[in-house]
Amino acid sequence: MSRYSRITGTGSHLPPRRLSNADMVAMLAQRDIETSDEWIVERTGIRARHFAAEGVSASDLALPAARAALEAAGRKPEDVDLIIVATSTPDMVFPSCATILQAKLGIVGCPAFDMQAVCSGFVYALTVADSMIRTGSVRCALVIGAEVFSRILDFNDRTTCVLFGDGSGAVVLEASDEPGILATDLHADGRHVGILCTPGTVSGGQVLGDPLLKMDGQAVFKLAVNVLDSAARATLSKAGRTEADVDWLIPHQANIRIMQSTARKLKLPAEKLVATVHEHGNTSAASIPLALDVAVRDGRVRRGDTVMLEGVGGGFTWGAVLLDY
Ligand code: ACO
Repeated sequence: MSRYSRITGTGSHLPPRRLSNADMVAMLAQRDIETSDEWIVERTGIRARHFAAEGVSASDLALPAARAALEAAGRKPEDVDLIIVATSTPDMVFPSCATILQAKLGIVGCPAFDMQAVCSGFVYALTVADSMIRTGSVRCALVIGAEVFSRILDFNDRTTCVLFGDGSGAVVLEASDEPGILATDLHADGRHVGILCTPGTVSGGQVLGDPLLKMDGQAVFKLAVNVLDSAARATLSKAGRTEADVDWLIPHQANIRIMQSTARKLKLPAEKLVATVHEHGNTSAASIPLALDVAVRDGRVRRGDTVMLEGVGGGFTWGAVLLDY
C-alpha cells in the first residue's frame, strides 16, 4: 500500500464565449439594469468570464479537462480506477455527471460519483480521492471540478450575475511512495444554508421554488475570510509545516479581496497568490483546478513546490488541502 497520493497531471477547459465586463454592462442594460466595469473590478477583481453555449453541459466541459490531465500524467482512460466530479450544476438530476463523463471517456467499471459541496467541491473531492488511494482501494483517480453556473444565474440580479462563470479543471491523482498530499481539512456548517443557495427543486414534474442562485454577499464575505484562515492553519499544523513553507496559495477564485486578505493573514507575499478570477470569474468547484492548471502550465508551480489549495462555498462548506506538487 502506498503512503501517499500525488498529482501527476493537470488540465482545464474554458468554453470559447468570453464576456468582458463591458459585455455584461451591455447585456444588463437590455433589462434596464445598471452595472459598470469599475464597480465589478473594484469589488471583485473580475474583468471577464466565460459562458458555455446553449446545450453544453458540465460533463462536456469536464471532458477536455480530463483528457488534458490524463495526457499530462502520461495516462490513458483505462488506467483510471476512480472518477469524482465536483459540481453543483450537473447535466441531470441523476445519474451523476461523473458517470456521464465516464462513458464519454470510454471507461467502464470504475466507481464514478459527483461531489456536491458547491465551491468547496474540489477540495472535498480531492480529500476523498486521497483517502481512497491511501487505503489502497484506488491507484489512479480523476478528480474534476466542472460547472455551468451561467444556467443558474438570475440575470435580473446584478449583485450576483456578474460574479460567476463556466469552466472545468481536472487532476490525475495517483498512489505514490513520495508526498503528495500532506494534509487535508474539511468542514461544514449547515446553519448558513440560506446565505448562498439555489433553493429550487423538482417535484411532480415541475420546478418548485426559485431555481436561481441567491447570495447574501456580505455574510459570505465575512465567513469566508475567517474560515479560510483557520483551514489553512489546520493543514499546516497537521503537516508539521509553517506559512513560510508555502510556495503557492491557490484559493477558490470568488473575489480578489477575499483571496488577498487570506494571503495577508498567512503573511504570504502577493506573488505567491495564484489569481485567475480576473479572467474566469467565480467558476465554483472548477475554480481551484482551473487556477492550478494555469499556474502549472505557465511554469509557476513546479515539481516539489508546496501548494495550499483552499475552498469555501455554499452550505456553508470550507476546507484546505496542503500538498507537495
Ligand atoms: N453593479 C453596480 N452596483 C452594484 C452591483 C453591480 N453589479 N451589485 C451591487 N451593487 C450595488 C448595491 O446595490 C449597493 O448599492 P446601494 O449601496 O445603493 O444599496 C452597493 O453596490 C454595495 O453593495 P454591497 O452588496 O454592499 O457590495 P459589497 O461591497 O459587499 O460587494 C460582493 C458585493 C462583491 C458580492 C461582496 O459582498 C462579495 O464578494 N462577497 C463574497 C461573495 C463570494 O465570495 N461568493 C462566492 C462564494 S463561493 C460559492 O459557493 C458560490
